[in-house]
Amino acid sequence: MTVEETLVLVKPDGVSRGLTGEILRRFEAKGYVITGLRLVHADRALLTEHYLEHAGKPFFEPLVEFMESGPIVAVRLSGERVIAGVRSLTGATDPTSAAPGTIRGDFGRDWGAAVQQNLVHASDSVESARRELDLWFS
Ligand code: RTP
Ligand code: MG
Repeated sequence: MTVEETLVLVKPDGVSRGLTGEILRRFEAKGYVITGLRLVHADRALLTEHYLEHAGKPFFEPLVEFMESGPIVAVRLSGERVIAGVRSLTGATDPTSAAPGTIRGDFGRDWGAAVQQNLVHASDSVESARRELDLWFS
């Protein structure tokens, strides 16, 4: 049995559209357990650290601006193979091509600025989960 923990962020578009409950409901319905929950208005220092792997990419600055535009709900989730399971519930990065049935596929759109506004972040490996949970839940 491999019980893991992962970090989910309901991004500012998810919070402002009133989708926090629906998004958390899906993770709970799958059987994952919420072990931490915070409403955070993230500053640039935290977001720069969080998105370090994307520093220097063309979408980095618009991404950070979007992420600091409003409150975020940070969630610590626990369960067997939760990292892969949550990525699967979340769907592909681009909400227009994300599969129906996923969070991004069901609720995401190409709102002008496109891919940034895709409702959720989810850790993509054991190492990222550990690093990101330390950042958002230290
Ligand atoms: P996340 O880290 O948020 O869970 O999303 P992800 O793994 O599916 O996507 P990633 O490649 O890590 O990108 C992080 C976030 O940056 C924005 N993005 N914009 N071409 C673009 O304009 C672009 N590409 C990525 C998205 O908000 C993406 O979730
Ligand atoms: Mg990512």
